[in-house]
Amino acid sequence: MQGVQVEIVKKFVVFEGGDGSGTSTQLELLRGKSRVWTTYEPTDGPIGRIIRDALRGETALRPETMARLFAADRTEHLFAKNGVIERCNRGETVVSDRYVLSSLVYQGILCGDLPFNLNKDFPLPELLFFFDIDSQTAVRRMENRPVREIYEYLEFQELVRERYKTLTPRWQQQGVRVVVIDASKPIEAVAREVAREIDSL
Ligand code: TMP
Repeated sequence: MQGVQVEIVKKFVVFEGGDGSGTSTQLELLRGKSRVWTTYEPTDGPIGRIIRDALRGETALRPETMARLFAADRTEHLFAKNGVIERCNRGETVVSDRYVLSSLVYQGILCGDLPFNLNKDFPLPELLFFFDIDSQTAVRRMENRPVREIYEYLEFQELVRERYKTLTPRWQQQGVRVVVIDASKPIEAVAREVAREIDSL
């Protein structure tokens, strides 16, 4: 990420944005589309499950531990059998709800440079959507969720949004196609924009 040229994986697409920005809804709408594999981080694997417990506040983990778990979960997500890399190499389009930038944003707020060091060798996606939304609107959208996760409060989400805005241009400089989505738009309008970009790959 910092000045070093990192490999770009063709047909790898990533959704990024603050909580409540609608990335999961859009991923759901893509599921089942031919030759598209939808996936997400944290994964459903063993490390992802530990992370989900911590996100729900069921176990208390140090931010540095979270940063390391996210990076370990990502390693499996990418390089395990039938993972992101293998699928992209055989011509599938892989769309992931969250990836490296989530760690640089969220864990970057909480533990400085550590996530940059842990994530510097992961390859970059070809296309990145940044779902941008006013944090108050996003937090309001999450009010009816049964469980409030540890990062889902206004002050933190405001920092998250600012950091995404700072870091996405850096990915663009590294050769990633970055599309900023106005995530306050209706679901169908966002879905059309996403589909158009993915179809053009
Ligand atoms: P989500 O499934 O609703 O997107 O929730 C995942 C949460 O985990 C969200 O608050 C963002 C956070 N997260 C990180 O803090 N670092 C990461 O590397 C990833 C992938 C997610």
